[in-house]
Amino acid sequence: MFDLLIKEAFLPDGRGPVNIAIKDGTIAAIGQNTPGDAAEVIDAQGQLVSPPFVDPHFHMDATLSLGLPRLNQSGTLLEGIALWGELKPMLTVEAVVERALRYCDLAVSQGLLSIRSHVDVSTAPLTGVEALLEVRKTVAPYIDLQLVAFPQDGLFRAAGAEENLLRALDMGVDVVGGIPHFERTMEDGARSVKRLCEIAADRGLPVDLHCDESDDPMSRHVETLAAETTRLGLGGRVVASHVTAMHSYDNYYASKLIPLIAESGMNVVPNPLINITLQGRSDTYPRRRGLTRVQELRAAGVNVAFGQDCTMDPWYPLGSADMLEVAHMGVHAVPMTSREAMAWAFHSVTMGGAAAMGLPDPTLREGGPANMVLLQARDPIEAVRLKATRLAVIKGGKVLSRTAPRIAQLSLEGRPDSVNPAEYAPPQNT
Ligand code: FE2
Repeated sequence: MFDLLIKEAFLPDGRGPVNIAIKDGTIAAIGQNTPGDAAEVIDAQGQLVSPPFVDPHFHMDATLSLGLPRLNQSGTLLEGIALWGELKPMLTVEAVVERALRYCDLAVSQGLLSIRSHVDVSTAPLTGVEALLEVRKTVAPYIDLQLVAFPQDGLFRAAGAEENLLRALDMGVDVVGGIPHFERTMEDGARSVKRLCEIAADRGLPVDLHCDESDDPMSRHVETLAAETTRLGLGGRVVASHVTAMHSYDNYYASKLIPLIAESGMNVVPNPLINITLQGRSDTYPRRRGLTRVQELRAAGVNVAFGQDCTMDPWYPLGSADMLEVAHMGVHAVPMTSREAMAWAFHSVTMGGAAAMGLPDPTLREGGPANMVLLQARDPIEAVRLKATRLAVIKGGKVLSRTAPRIAQLSLEGRPDSVNPAEYAPPQNT
């Protein structure tokens, strides 16, 4: 007797229809004929069942603070940082916890069950750290929440930031963060990358830096991060987040840089919703899109995973914990509309994000954890197109959330137009 049986489901690689039998929080069987009864049966009716969504880049200490104490008038990164600086002294642990938990409830309903959140450690007291450590504990049964010690105002630019960062790591924050392009000089930025990588190497921790989140074609800290990653052997433990300046690099320089990034084994996390709105603000026309070189990085074998970054905070007034919205924006902003690339965009917000966060491969398989999302879509491309309704969100074999299906939904008839497994080619390194 199984605890839960999901009938007639299709998997992201195009296999199906299959039945997924769950027992004691584990996938007991996946196949066309699953023997035995179950206490609960969900008929997927030919819809897609996928590993849960993963957001490898978020700011949970700032989420849902939109309008506090005022709105960002220019829409720029720099006004966002200044505005956050005004809000920080007013924060309380209770208010940050309350907003973060409200966000986590929304995330679960969207099938988003793994999140890496940066938490500002520039200035004492470490209100955000205290709050998000509490949130990490509270949500542990349903969300894998990783925290990054993020010196928002600069490791060297903000007095006491390094000491605060080390204290946050001592308190149990999981990952070393940084923001080299916000240090006072290029030299300070490069020095901060080296120092942060050495701290991570000494402590055996991952690194995740906001790196070159700028329109400045001379902002080249990602080359230092790649070199330090190689020198210290940090490989897959390192993430370069944003890397928007790469959009503006000279093509020749990019052709030298990208193989070095690939050689280092680091991951790259672009954040399409935020990059497309924050970047290019000082341009007239033509106005740069500001997203990093996703397709070229992929072609070089780099794991690229889209992140969300913000939801209703000093940097971004929209957002809804919807990683399909993130993938949808990525497809447009890159742009990348081949069938392979659109299927990859879905892969990016599930498997790619898990790899960037250093989580186990979440592929649905016998003996694996029963964590999955039933979507109102027939395949990954349709899921991205429709930002599909999460009909059921399952963690450890338990249904955490259900959403009613949309009544009207535009689909082409027949499966031949949907994913052909032969077309779907996940990157080799994920
Ligand atoms: Fe960020």
